[in-house]
Amino acid sequence: MIGIRTALKKFKFNYWQSGEVARRYHEATKSTSDYTSKITDEYLNILVTKLTRKSKILDLGCGTGAITRRLINYGHDVTAVDISLQMLEQLKASCQHETLKTIQGDIFALEALVEHGSFDAVATRWVIPHFPNWIAILPKVVDVLKPGGYFLFDIGSDDNYTIAQERFELDKHIFGYNDDNTKLGKNFYASSGIKELNSIANFANFEVVSINTFGFFRQNAIIASAARGYGFETYKEEFAKHYENPDVKKFVDWFDSLITPGFPYGMVNTLGVLLKKNPK
Ligand SMILES: C[S@@+](CC[C@H](N)C(=O)[O-])C[C@H]1O[C@@H](n2cnc3c(N)ncnc32)[C@H](O)[C@@H]1O
Repeated sequence: MIGIRTALKKFKFNYWQSGEVARRYHEATKSTSDYTSKITDEYLNILVTKLTRKSKILDLGCGTGAITRRLINYGHDVTAVDISLQMLEQLKASCQHETLKTIQGDIFALEALVEHGSFDAVATRWVIPHFPNWIAILPKVVDVLKPGGYFLFDIGSDDNYTIAQERFELDKHIFGYNDDNTKLGKNFYASSGIKELNSIANFANFEVVSINTFGFFRQNAIIASAARGYGFETYKEEFAKHYENPDVKKFVDWFDSLITPGFPYGMVNTLGVLLKKNPK
């Protein structure tokens, strides 16, 4: 009998190695104009507004390159690391820029993949939340950053079992996990409270620049829609259609900026965290 953590790791490892998964993932995330793409831009803006042009950035768990391509287009030098060759193949097919370098490898063995103290920033999305032991990555990120370098990552907010389950349901819907895997749902998403994040960051030689609690309105609506079986595509299409309506956009922006931050953290399901490595 293998333990749940080993089973989970194995499942995730095998999952991303599939060419079919990589192809579907790329299809679902490649757009630069749909609703998911707006959320991606919003997330990445937390970091890019702090950078000068031609920064050296490491993208951890780059997948098929949704973040990578944007960083390249902003004029940065990007090293993109992923454990899955299939995901990297999709990225390379969609982006052949000379400022892109790809490396196949495990982000938990970062020291073997890239040079110490060489990056202005490390960015990652939808990777950290897959690892209950995510804290182990922080010293590795500190090590590869230059002093004063930034680390942008996302994580579930608070240790909320219901949200972890809902998110797993959503992933099942999008990526078609089979039902045998649902028992892994409880451990699928790592999460943290804000106070906890502050002390973890300080301990790892980072200062917290900002923690954005975003996505309550939108991501919960996506989850609700998927859980009720309306389908992710239908939801995305509907939302994108209405999002362009200035009144809807105004309402959503107002809701996110004024109402969302007032919620208990457990209700807001994603934190966009920007850390800065201490200058010394
Ligand atoms: C949900 S995708 C996120 C992809 C991309 N960051 C994005 O925003 O679309 C998760 C990615 O993490 C990669 N991954 C999972 N475990 C990893 C590990 N230990 N080291 C490197 N990459 C890993 C998977 O292969 C997959 O491409």
